[in-house]
Amino acid sequence: MPKIVIAVPRESAPGETRVALTPDTVRRLVSDEVAVRVEQGAGAAAAFPDDTYREAGAEVSTADGLADADVWVKVQPPRQREDGSHEVDMIRSGGVLAAFLSPTESPELLERLAGRQVTALAMELMPRITRAQRMDALSAMSTVAGYKAVVIGADTLGKLFPLLITAAGTLSPAHVLVIGAGVAGLQAIATAHRLGAVVEAFDVRPAVKEQVESLGAKFVEPEEEHGSLVGEETEGGYAEELSEDEQEKERQLLAKHVAKSDVVITTALVPGRPAPRIITKEMVQGMRQGSAIIDLAAVAGGNCELTEPGETVERHGVTIHGATNLPAQVPVHASQMYSRNLQALLNHLISEEGVQIDLEDEITGAICVTHAGEVRFGT
Ligand code: NAI
Repeated sequence: MPKIVIAVPRESAPGETRVALTPDTVRRLVSDEVAVRVEQGAGAAAAFPDDTYREAGAEVSTADGLADADVWVKVQPPRQREDGSHEVDMIRSGGVLAAFLSPTESPELLERLAGRQVTALAMELMPRITRAQRMDALSAMSTVAGYKAVVIGADTLGKLFPLLITAAGTLSPAHVLVIGAGVAGLQAIATAHRLGAVVEAFDVRPAVKEQVESLGAKFVEPEEEHGSLVGEETEGGYAEELSEDEQEKERQLLAKHVAKSDVVITTALVPGRPAPRIITKEMVQGMRQGSAIIDLAAVAGGNCELTEPGETVERHGVTIHGATNLPAQVPVHASQMYSRNLQALLNHLISEEGVQIDLEDEITGAICVTHAGEVRFGT
């Protein structure tokens, strides 16, 4: 059987610093059956120079050299490059692509991939099941984002996080509120707690109360007047979307907690839905001058009414961060984690017979958005 060639192109999206495969993963993949070809400079922004790929057994090539690869692995969806060429046209007809593809927002891209007979695998559609845990790239990136959100909050605040008793007086600890205690939220809680802040958290799923408390944070309990805010989970372990009336009750519950917080980190999201608006303009006005909001849900419109996705703005003396790609600010570890997710996926797909696209398989079937000239997503 001829060797399967895996291509690692340079990410061309502005601000993207991650690389799909790190040299460490390349070393694990390269074998008698598998070769890896890396575009020049692909790992440079994540501190992996070309030589580290050569040492790991990869071939470093120009963009043209990727043309005959069987599998393309990327971080961002394929797009038009600075020279006018489109990355979809660089993938060989009949090839496989694995990347974040934002399928809901990109119907034209999916048509283009299908038109080129590419089998496209969207990493964000990875089912959250035990068998796919090692391939769960969204969770990996949320872990990085939850950590980084706290570091940004600490950096923005003109205060230290921990309680300090010094000869120059006692400094009271910073108060951090985390809204939404999923993967990103739990990592934010743990990080803020480690830095010495007093942490509170809220989520609509009752199951997370214990996890929140085990990480050293206080769970914000709804009072009677807030009704049944802590609701049921769906079968997949996700929250049900709150009704408008329940969202109003949530705002009433959280208003006083937001007001006394120095840093608020919001991560609330029900997959596939716009981010719930939890922090209103009035709640921002009620915060202390110099406080900060880090809105991780900015990608889905934001949990705060004043968030501007992709921007950092100051409103009523509060700094509101709407960063949409925090993992790119931690490119080494974000690439390392993503690369391991891809390695697990590649191991799942590659067998002695080559790259297997079994649409009956629970994992491959769930993430495959185009195959054999057809768009499978949303059909
Ligand atoms: P997740 O699904 O694990 O967690 C979301 C949590 O929000 C769940 O626990 C859910 O119960 C909770 N939730 C839903 N509605 C709520 C409400 N009305 N009030 C309180 N809690 C509510 O998602 P994950 O992986 O933790 O991601 C969280 C957010 O972070 C997502 O919006 C994701 O897109 C974003 N993210 C942002 C990045 C960035 O660079 N800005 C990078 C990675 C993730």
